[in-house]
Amino acid sequence: MRWRSVHAQSYSAEPRLTVLGTGYLGITHAACMASLGFEVLGVDTDAAKVEKLSAGVTPIYEPELAELVKAQLDSGRLRFTTSYDKAASFGDVHFICTGTPQLPGGGGADLSQVRSCVTALAPLLDRPSLIVGKSTVPVGTARELARYLAGAGSRAELAWNPEFLREGSAVRDTLAPDRIVAGVTSQRGEDVLRQVYEPLLNAGTPFFVTSLETAELAKAAANAFLATKISFINAMAEVCEAAGGNILELSEILGADPRIGGQSLRAGLGFGGGCLPKDIRGFMSRADELGVQSAVGLLGEVDRINLRRRSRTADLALELAGGELTGATVCVLGAAFKPGSDDVRESPALDVAQILHGLGAQVRVYDPVASANAAAARPELQYPSSLDEAAADATVVLLLTEWPEFTALLPDDLAGLVKQKNIVDARNVLTPTAWLAAGWNYRALGIGTGTPGRPASELERSW
Ligand code: UGA
Repeated sequence: MRWRSVHAQSYSAEPRLTVLGTGYLGITHAACMASLGFEVLGVDTDAAKVEKLSAGVTPIYEPELAELVKAQLDSGRLRFTTSYDKAASFGDVHFICTGTPQLPGGGGADLSQVRSCVTALAPLLDRPSLIVGKSTVPVGTARELARYLAGAGSRAELAWNPEFLREGSAVRDTLAPDRIVAGVTSQRGEDVLRQVYEPLLNAGTPFFVTSLETAELAKAAANAFLATKISFINAMAEVCEAAGGNILELSEILGADPRIGGQSLRAGLGFGGGCLPKDIRGFMSRADELGVQSAVGLLGEVDRINLRRRSRTADLALELAGGELTGATVCVLGAAFKPGSDDVRESPALDVAQILHGLGAQVRVYDPVASANAAAARPELQYPSSLDEAAADATVVLLLTEWPEFTALLPDDLAGLVKQKNIVDARNVLTPTAWLAAGWNYRALGIGTGTPGRPASELERSW
């Protein structure tokens, strides 16, 4: 592997780009590349989505993205189509940004969209071009696609360039990435990617040139590590609860060690979303196929720790309600898997809401942007349009996604609305002393009582 953070070479002809798949990744990549000055054609088989995007309507909530898409449409550099023929004649570099969801009933990834993109595009390409995979795929996928292209006599070459953006800061992460990974099979592949990312390389972004396999693994390993870090701190939260420690203090102390670092060390309800949960399961499944399942066996425990936080949160609500939730009104604050996003895939918040619904509660979920997606995913829950409506007459309030409007809540904001002053702060974002002083029963994850074995009801008196 060669490590470079040098300026890219310049080439006279500016490549034209296509972006296949217009989900979170694809829309963001297309708009950001257009903002860097490239002509970009976004491609999706969903005609309704293409029509909306062409009219400047961004179908997802992502800070800065809608404005960026509009600006780039106005500039004329960004367009959208359903036509692979147009994509083939337009583009020199084709980015694959389609989804790779978890296969139903299994841990592996569904690669059908990635494969069909390549098999649909390749026969239409009549000049040398580069197909660049950005989707998260099991290691070995890129090599299989490269062999397909070679076997089909295609003039296209394959590269893998994994994406590390986070939802909620996707635009920023794309335009100012920590690193760019280029898995290539030739100097030409590297040169083209250097040209495409020239502005970012000029800004000093580290550029890693690797094999296809290392590039794929860079993504799988990064997400596995992040998930492990989050579950590690949540495992310590379990220990704190039993032993009488405080996870907030503990994670601050751990994070002060630069070898550990404080990021992804926020204890609470754990990770969800369309990436970390599916990616650790996909990684385990692929390692199994490769005969090295024990090498990533710890990821099974990472997954279990993560899911345990959800049942623990529901248990705290049940306890606050006096052991019975049948018929009780429960107010759930948050449906998105994280703030800054309307994505409810594998959302811990919605899972907890569903558990409480299963316990017989009337569950009212309020989220500032994700309610429509949540209602489509879990229609059996109630979705009032305001926080006040959600909290009215509630026996327990649970803060499950740390949107700013929830983290800023003060005890008096809710006191006049609820039936009983019970709150579970599953993201550890409120100030416990303020809520306790105002007469609330306050529970959080990872805060023990100070004396091992003391009942949780004494918890509040330890602040
Ligand atoms: C994650 C990775 O962080 C990105 O680098 C990667 O590109 C992306 O997956 C992907 O594969 O596409 P994302 O899922 O958007 O990004 O969000 P994160 O910020 O990593 O958060 C994931 C989940 O972990 C959220 O539910 C969040 O609430 C939770 N989390 C995060 C914690 O519980 N504690 C933390 O300290 C950090």
